[in-house]
Amino acid sequence: MKLYDCLIVSLLLVAVTAVGIPDHKDRHEINDSQPLRPSNSSQRFDPDASVNSADFPGNAEDITPVGKMRMVKHFYLWTRNTMKNKSYELLNPSDVDTIINSTFRVRTTYIIIHGFLGWGYEPWILQLKDKLLNMSDCNVISVDWPAGTEWFLPTYYIAVNRVQSVGYDCAHLLSALANTTGLSGVDVHLIGHSLGAHAAGFTAKDKQTNLRIGRITGLDPAGLMYRGKSAKHRLDSSDAVYVDVMHTNGCYNFWTAWTDCYGINENLGHSDFWPNGGEHQPGCTASDANGEIGCSHEMAYRYYIESLNYGWDSTYFLTRSCASWMIYSAGNCSCGEEAQYMGFFVNTQLPGRFYLTTNHFFPYAQEDTVCSPGNRNNRTIILILAGSGLAGAVGVGLLGAVVGYTLKKRQKSEDGGSGLVTEEVQPSYCDDDRSLVP
Ligand SMILES: *[C@@H]1O[C@H](CO)[C@@H](O)[C@H](O)[C@H]1NC(C)=O
Ligand SMILES: *[C@@H]1O[C@H](CO)[C@@H](O)[C@H](O)[C@H]1NC(C)=O
Ligand SMILES: *[C@@H]1O[C@H](CO)[C@@H](O)[C@H](O)[C@H]1NC(C)=O
Ligand SMILES: *[C@@H]1O[C@H](CO)[C@@H](O)[C@H](O)[C@H]1NC(C)=O
Ligand SMILES: *[C@@H]1O[C@H](CO)[C@@H](O)[C@H](O)[C@H]1NC(C)=O
Ligand SMILES: *[C@@H]1O[C@H](CO)[C@@H](O)[C@H](O)[C@H]1NC(C)=O
Ligand SMILES: *[C@@H]1O[C@H](CO)[C@@H](O)[C@H](O)[C@H]1NC(C)=O
Repeated sequence: MKLYDCLIVSLLLVAVTAVGIPDHKDRHEINDSQPLRPSNSSQRFDPDASVNSADFPGNAEDITPVGKMRMVKHFYLWTRNTMKNKSYELLNPSDVDTIINSTFRVRTTYIIIHGFLGWGYEPWILQLKDKLLNMSDCNVISVDWPAGTEWFLPTYYIAVNRVQSVGYDCAHLLSALANTTGLSGVDVHLIGHSLGAHAAGFTAKDKQTNLRIGRITGLDPAGLMYRGKSAKHRLDSSDAVYVDVMHTNGCYNFWTAWTDCYGINENLGHSDFWPNGGEHQPGCTASDANGEIGCSHEMAYRYYIESLNYGWDSTYFLTRSCASWMIYSAGNCSCGEEAQYMGFFVNTQLPGRFYLTTNHFFPYAQEDTVCSPGNRNNRTIILILAGSGLAGAVGVGLLGAVVGYTLKKRQKSEDGGSGLVTEEVQPSYCDDDRSLVP
């Protein structure tokens, strides 16, 4: 009966249509003396401008992993050097030559993990890597794993069953990178969307390496099969020095489970961001290609990519610490002494749960006309680890640099989780019924 209900629910879902990769052949020369962040906060990023559609292999549901990998099909690597000649390099943790021969160097390393029905060179991933490479001389790795090709509940359960293996492969890669190049965990920033957010958590938990990951960003972490789970079985604040989580489709309603929200409705990180309440995003309607919930679910990475445009001198994506969306919407939450921003330029010193509103359409960020950008003197200066020389000589761990930031000291609140996880009664509907897993 339960399975039947779930199938009915899934049949109601709007089929996802694969998003075509915009056909931009031009490569971007990177000028190393460009500012790290736009000095002019009103500079906007054109989301279509820099997608680099390269000669990628197809997106077939071929689950034969390469080499000794359990699940991952490809680890794509982009650096400023690969951008100039070819579009990507492939890394294989079982073949260190692929690492040694690549343009990978010890420096800030972003590892992007897509979610359900995603693939390694989804347009948003290409946009994000272009923006990251534009901002600093870094490594960007995208994890390509078979996450299904059709929007159907059994497919989802199959994908869920693969998430831990994806984490295993990513940890294997990190181990190989650490062994061959001396990369340290604090240099690593995992960015995962949906199921990929939990895969990032499993990467950090995996015992193949004892690297302590610097930062994990969870972009609307998946809800189904992860609600009400212990920290061991999902993304958790204990997985990295700093974990920030954005919720754009995080809700749970007994009668409309999964047709209402794909994201999780729990605070999982040190800082959790709930734009527009975190359940449904303005501008998303049923007529969207992926339906209203698909649109809201994807809005997490759109906000994140846009957040790279704004500096701390502006109030775009400025948030307020608040106990709930209701209190926030009633206008009862104050600015707070320190500013906290949603997205890439998060204030890693400020844990909690945060609310903000956004525009319906790009650009999504709104200026907060009441609160100030905060005291910039309190803010740590961006530190970019340019090249292996600096990192190797000084020791990245000593600098404590995380994704280009200096972390002065770890927050006290980091011991044993954030303590922010909401307690809620979980009716057993489709959730947590592992017998459904094919
Ligand atoms: C790089 O940018 C700097 C500052 O904007 C400029 O002076 C310089 O000419 C640029 N170099 C190239 C090669 O475009
Ligand atoms: C890189 O950043 C500069 C501003 O810092 C911006 O003008 C330029 O358009 C960006 N290029 C890409 C490809 O995003
Ligand atoms: C910032 O950029 C906007 C749009 O390009 C421009 O109108 C504005 O004058 C710029 N401000 C400064 C201080 O350069
Ligand atoms: C890019 O290609 C040029 C010539 O085709 C070559 O000289 C150069 O070494 C290549 N750069 C990289 C980073 O592979
Ligand atoms: C790495 O480079 C060496 C020497 O140039 C070459 O012999 C080897 O085949 C390369 N291996 C891979 C996996 O590219
Ligand atoms: C890295 O080195 C450790 C310790 O020597 C070893 O246990 C591990 O298997 C190595 N990782 C890889 C991917 O070779
Ligand atoms: C907001 O504050 C007002 C005035 O203190 C209070 O009457 C109201 O109940 C508060 N609303 C919420 C949702 O907290």
